Amino acid sequence: MTRSSPSLSSTSIPNIDRNSKLHIKASEIADLFVLENGFLQKAVDQYNIQALEGLAKHTERGLPMIPSYVSDTPTGKEVGTFLALDLGGTNFRVCSVELHGNSTYSIVQKKTTVPDSIMKSTLHEFINYLADRVQEFLNEYHASFLQECKKDSSHKPLKVGFTFSFPVNQTHINRGTLIRWTKGYDIKDAVGKDIPLALQQELDKRNLHVFIAAVVNDTVGTLMSRAYTKPSNCGDTVIGCIFGTGTNGAYSEPLVNITKFDRSAAPEVKSDEMIINTEWGSFDNDLKILPNNKYDNQVNLNTRNPGFHMFEKRVSGMFLGELLRLCMVDLHSQGLLFTSPEAKAELFTTEGNINNQSDLFTPWSMNTAVPAVFHSDNTPDLSPSAKHISRHLQFTPTLEELVSIQLIARSIGKRAAAMAAIPLAGAIIHTRALEKHEKVDIGADGSVVENYPYFQEMIREALAQTSLGPKGVERITLGIAKDGSGVGAALCALEAKEYH
Ligand code: BGC
Repeated sequence: MTRSSPSLSSTSIPNIDRNSKLHIKASEIADLFVLENGFLQKAVDQYNIQALEGLAKHTERGLPMIPSYVSDTPTGKEVGTFLALDLGGTNFRVCSVELHGNSTYSIVQKKTTVPDSIMKSTLHEFINYLADRVQEFLNEYHASFLQECKKDSSHKPLKVGFTFSFPVNQTHINRGTLIRWTKGYDIKDAVGKDIPLALQQELDKRNLHVFIAAVVNDTVGTLMSRAYTKPSNCGDTVIGCIFGTGTNGAYSEPLVNITKFDRSAAPEVKSDEMIINTEWGSFDNDLKILPNNKYDNQVNLNTRNPGFHMFEKRVSGMFLGELLRLCMVDLHSQGLLFTSPEAKAELFTTEGNINNQSDLFTPWSMNTAVPAVFHSDNTPDLSPSAKHISRHLQFTPTLEELVSIQLIARSIGKRAAAMAAIPLAGAIIHTRALEKHEKVDIGADGSVVENYPYFQEMIREALAQTSLGPKGVERITLGIAKDGSGVGAALCALEAKEYH
């Protein structure tokens, strides 16, 4: 594959020495992120092998392929008011969602950033943190509902869809145990516990009169919300996916193919299909096929879940800035990058030691915005990139340094987008979607797919290199599905028929 995106203009190439040691070394690093010709289709085949294995049995390291207990995709005519809780990564949102029944909805929400101390606390502290936020929200936006419930204890509770975007082994539409944490969380005593049940018990203790009717992965919510809101000229929505802090996808599978699913233990399931939360972040945890250069390796070792979600660590937003930072540290340690007096004064202490306070040496200090800004920068002096990165480094790199960083950033970004196409192509091929539908629609959400420059174009370009081919890709739409975690969760809560 070529290194630069076709969508990038090449009219204003910065004028620097392309034979310098720095430029040569940076090109070598950038090449470590270039996928070999033919890799994509091989990876798609491998993805489908691992997906079939996951549908047959659950193994610790395999693709989880989790039955979601959600079957019906919406029609756009659904109505009602619901509460949606959304814990996806950095933020916890509490929302009130009103479905209007004409593909539209309104939403009122309150968002808080989950403190790092909670992300590695205990189950008790974590659940109390969530319950506090729900209580605050209800007091602020549903005070009269709480009053009515006080007067009449038989009042119907408010139905809640709880988007909990971590791998959960679902046992019912509103029950499931946490398989493992991802995206920087590490609450050890929560693993193996039923998180929605624990939250429900805490909410009951506080007499809040809400009922968690569905626990939903954000990808399932995205599939539901895209089906509810999509413009009528798009095709049938077959995949809901997230490319944000983490990555994952959901699609619908006939129950007969989910051979690990014991239907006799789930009499409430009436449909012959069920949405599967693939947890594709865990594709190829054993690295049978995924590229693995020394920076990938380092990133993995620095995570709170080493050895797991290996696909996610090459594709999603939590990792792209960190990959770039590690490449810069490497070039710096070789005496090739950030060699100006201004840079040295910032990166070394007066004793000549490394300045550990600098973002350059601080793991996870640079998010995906850093490679994103470099990726789209077509100015001759790379001034937008210089401005952005100097906020992290406290000095301005030279033009030659900026060009080298850009080379690597684009390669990291392009690999991520190309790899994002693997499970998408896998699911489209596995479900024979192009044979069944004239047009196939993918609903996507997340900061990377929304904001990373050219990410969607690069995905499409990679999809065309698989057996779907350019003709197949012409029949596929990829649309941003806004707020799957809110609207989608509400739609799942609606689908759940029962109360306590
Ligand atoms: C989680 C998934 C989630 C995805 C996107 C991953 O880390 O394991 O459950 O859907 O992030 O938020």
